[in-house]
Amino acid sequence: MSLLLTGIAELTTNDPTHADGHVATRSDPGDALLGVVREAALVVSDDGVIEWVGPASEAPAADARRDLGGRAVIPGFVDSHSHLVFAGDRSAEFAARMTGTPYDGGGIAVSVAATRAASDDELRRLVAGRVAEMRAQGTTTVEIKSGYGLTLEDELRSLRIARELTPHTTFLGAHVVPPEYAADRAAYVELVTGPMLDAVVADGPTALAESIDVFCEPHSAHAFDGDEARTVLEAGRAAGLALRVHGNQLGHGPGVQLACELGARSVDHCTFLGDEDVDALVAARGTTVATLLPGVEFSTRSPYPDARRLVDAGVDVALASDCNPGTCYSSSIPFAIALAVREMGLTPAEALHAATAVSARSLGLDRRVAPGQPAELAVLDAPTHLHLAYRAGVPIVRALDLPKA
Ligand code: NIG
Ligand code: FE
Repeated sequence: MSLLLTGIAELTTNDPTHADGHVATRSDPGDALLGVVREAALVVSDDGVIEWVGPASEAPAADARRDLGGRAVIPGFVDSHSHLVFAGDRSAEFAARMTGTPYDGGGIAVSVAATRAASDDELRRLVAGRVAEMRAQGTTTVEIKSGYGLTLEDELRSLRIARELTPHTTFLGAHVVPPEYAADRAAYVELVTGPMLDAVVADGPTALAESIDVFCEPHSAHAFDGDEARTVLEAGRAAGLALRVHGNQLGHGPGVQLACELGARSVDHCTFLGDEDVDALVAARGTTVATLLPGVEFSTRSPYPDARRLVDAGVDVALASDCNPGTCYSSSIPFAIALAVREMGLTPAEALHAATAVSARSLGLDRRVAPGQPAELAVLDAPTHLHLAYRAGVPIVRALDLPKA
């Protein structure tokens, strides 16, 4: 069985080479970047693989047909940075920040205590609910980090629950030094890089986690400095994990340089960058993506990173939610796109590309709408992707559900 999706006013393929062969009736800036095909159609097999993409006028016959009624179709969002495995509530911390209390990572301990106290079933229910919330807003691929357990058992449990929902799991035992190790930070780094990491890879390097991450932030007393972060990342790399880094979030620091030097797939936040950081990211193009998380600047009243400067310099820029209970309890990629366009100088096309093609690359994925690719798509109640930022706050986009084989 194959399904023909037709009535697509605008299809974003992230595949400019393909779109070149098909005529764009108007030439908007960004069409080439997004690989836009107007008045398009798609054929999807019943096992969810794209079989054909092109202009509706050339569409082949299929067993079934669905008319999308003049909507836009985009690749599903790839949310390459989230912390969905947590229990508890920190809304009062958010309210305090809105009246001037700065963020310093101290609240993470509140989520750690609540997460440790939650049952497996309760955590599972919370994480599944958050993934469903993302899907309802157009996200079809999500990366999920551990990092609110911070004991061997609670980190493993967090990764196992995350793995039930996505293959893109990240071990973040080095989120902060938990309170019980505050007087002996070195012992905690040894725990993370020794017994915890050993347990994470015990069934094979990527059986439970695809990547390792560290909150490298000399401006927080709770997070890790450059030397500690290097120790964590080198241990993770030796164990066969891909590398991700939380860097340069609260101030200038070594995170970006370290990530680029070690060949991390992504360095995330990048809020405070010097010229040498931008140079390092330019040199690491093709290997290390700069993942911007503007929901964090929104929710912490911080300055937004200069996305325009990064894109103009040639850096690979991705957008993700960072959905977490502290710095951004928003799972909405459309919200991140609207902020990137309004506050960070990206065009709507650049923002959409960042939240799909580039974020996918940071997870080692090739996410184009092309024959042979999975049909991970989202549909807009709007004729063009421009509405993602234009209709900010309005729920116009959702993951496209296809009939199961
Ligand atoms: O990405 N910066 C470190 N970790 C999260 C926040 C975690 C929290 O406050 O609960 C972040 O911003
Ligand atoms: Fe984060």
